[in-house]
Amino acid sequence: MQAIDKIISDAQAAFEAAPTVAELEQAKARFLGKSGALTELLKGLGKLPPEEKPKAGAAINEAKVRVEGLLQARRDAILAAELEERLAAEAVDVTLPGRAQSRGGLHPISRAQERIERLFASMGFSVADGPEIENDFYNFTALRMFPDHPSRSMQDTFYVADSDKVLRTHTSPVQIRYMQSHQPPIRIICPGRVYRVDHDATHSPMFHQIEGLWIDEGVSLADLKGTVAQFLRAFFERDDIEIRFRPSYFPFVEPGVEIDMAWSRKDGEVGYLEIGGAGVVHPDVLRNGNIDPAKYSGFAFGMGLDRLAMLKYGVNDLRLFFDNDLKFLRQFR
Ligand code: PHE
Repeated sequence: MQAIDKIISDAQAAFEAAPTVAELEQAKARFLGKSGALTELLKGLGKLPPEEKPKAGAAINEAKVRVEGLLQARRDAILAAELEERLAAEAVDVTLPGRAQSRGGLHPISRAQERIERLFASMGFSVADGPEIENDFYNFTALRMFPDHPSRSMQDTFYVADSDKVLRTHTSPVQIRYMQSHQPPIRIICPGRVYRVDHDATHSPMFHQIEGLWIDEGVSLADLKGTVAQFLRAFFERDDIEIRFRPSYFPFVEPGVEIDMAWSRKDGEVGYLEIGGAGVVHPDVLRNGNIDPAKYSGFAFGMGLDRLAMLKYGVNDLRLFFDNDLKFLRQFR
């Protein structure tokens, strides 16, 4: 029976051509389905003369068994190939080293800040806080940086439109806020973020300062010098640190100074580095904080926290602190 042989070879070709089980099932319908080629042959049996029927029927059934065998073989082959593919894709290399749980760590600026807070706490200072979005009054006017004063442009900042709000340019506004709610003795530091229109290797538009304020009877510039020197020696763990005051102008102190830190470098020379501004708090500033300047006096300083951290950890570009590069930050864990 030529027709049967053709059906078998067609089925084999169609099954081989089916790449997936779903497509294989569709090919199966063409041969074994309700109107498939073999089924049609069976239906045609009735028209044959009675003596031919048994032989033809047996041949068709035999063909059906063969086609089903071919179908099953192809189905097994497809499933085996799929399994093989999945095993390859999901292979686990048990010889790889395990992945350790990685532990987080404090950012170097936070570490420096915590260290500074501890050292000042040991000298009797507590930590105060103030808002980063400040009023013009606290950031400038109460510190005698009046609306048309040129010292304002040295700290040009980000103003909030149609309001008296600014991103604070320094931590000094905390002086006023703290004095308004506390009477002397006052001994605080205030670490925090400040903002200026500045951007290069040693300036970032956001940076950190630590304000210091000590107000009591008879507090003078000598106390400032002693306090800052003692702090720096402890912070850098070196006894050879001296400080130098350079006269400078800040409207909220009188006299005002820049603090330079001196230490002996490896080559034996003495190097000076500026680390902040300071001075004796101006009497008008004390008045703005409701403190009687006839009775009390004191000093304030503002140091660059990022700069202290750069010196402490030997970092030469301020921007590294804020790029969030894990290769850099992991070194401080
Ligand atoms: N606020 C000043 C600045 O940011 C620093 C300073 C603080 C100076 C306290 C004197 C007293 O430049």
